[in-house]
Amino acid sequence: MLAILGGTSLLDCRIFSGWPEETVETPFGTVTIKKGDGVVFLQRHGNPPMPPHRIGHRANIAALKGLGASRIVAVNSVGSLKFSLEPGTLLVPDDFVSPWHIETFFDDEMRFMIPVMDGNFAHEVFVACREHTMAVRMGGTYVQTIGPRLETRAEINILKDFGDIVGMTLASEATLAMETDLPYASICSIDNYCHGIVETPLTMDEIRVNVSRNLATIESVLNTLITRGLS
Ligand code: HPA
Repeated sequence: MLAILGGTSLLDCRIFSGWPEETVETPFGTVTIKKGDGVVFLQRHGNPPMPPHRIGHRANIAALKGLGASRIVAVNSVGSLKFSLEPGTLLVPDDFVSPWHIETFFDDEMRFMIPVMDGNFAHEVFVACREHTMAVRMGGTYVQTIGPRLETRAEINILKDFGDIVGMTLASEATLAMETDLPYASICSIDNYCHGIVETPLTMDEIRVNVSRNLATIESVLNTLITRGLS
């Protein structure tokens, strides 16, 4: 079964309207999901929505695993660290940086996972994106910050040497998915240039407009992945 893990913007997706809701109990808390035919949708922020630094990532991934998901396609909103990666572009990352914010299922045992994103799965997701837009990149490094505030110009000046895009969720989810042997790939929606990458001042309005602009394409990609039964 394919699992789709997205942010609050995906709640407006027509795909999931009408899908029945279910609650799933996990050792890390209760999660609400929507269930389709051979596919499940989880809105990562929960209800009421929690800001990025308080998302129950362990509950989310444990719920998907418990429901029998075999792969997770995530949709993550990001800022761009590179002038050449314009807002409106989708990017399927193949690695991430998050040395300051590690969540784990291995709190009480000596287990050391070596994180590698599933390249074949990422490529399948990229191919599905490519069917709907030319503005998509395969590969790139996602840098995870803690949030909820965005980064300062000085922080971005450092981070731009570490990766291509910045967000607040992917590394936590990918780490926990890997710890439970669940392949995880992400469609990153580049919704803004990071603070200070361009001279035009960054505003939350700009981010909101781009989130809804990319949503139609992402919806088509998700439809393709669902009908193709990427499970
Ligand atoms: N920084 C962090 N997270 C984000 C950004 C950003 O610029 N844009 C969308 N999510």
